[in-house]
Amino acid sequence: MIAIGSDHAAAELRHVVAAYLDEHQIPYIDCGTDNSPSDYPVIGKAVCEKIQNGEAEMGILLCGTGIGMSLTANKMRGIRAAVCSETYSAKYTRLHNNANVLCMGARVVGSGLALEILEVFLNTEFEGGRHQRRIDMVMELENK
Ligand code: RB5
Repeated sequence: MIAIGSDHAAAELRHVVAAYLDEHQIPYIDCGTDNSPSDYPVIGKAVCEKIQNGEAEMGILLCGTGIGMSLTANKMRGIRAAVCSETYSAKYTRLHNNANVLCMGARVVGSGLALEILEVFLNTEFEGGRHQRRIDMVMELENK
């Protein structure tokens, strides 16, 4: 299960992402919003809570730049959010960082590129091994 969410700046892209997930029969929870204006921290928190409580394994968060959503998501325990605007980062943030939230900026990437980034993110598995130790070091910082 994937939780998705956007603020007003990326509502249109969220609908494009939802259509992609529908087409690929990937189940998702849509945390909104179609409200305008809206506050990205509210939606970012809602999506990450779905991961924290086990309802979703991954999240997709969209705003104007992707940055506000990533700042929000990375404040939440257990979340590893990465802003991606090309496919290389999407691949390696899964392989090496085991990112569980993909953030994208609707004012940065077009919908075609966003879907390619999404596809790579969803279809790349964490490599484990030496990367797990580093992730453990990052997650330990949640206790600081
Ligand atoms: C909204 O105007 C914009 O600030 C927001 O979508 C996002 O880009 C923030 O990081």
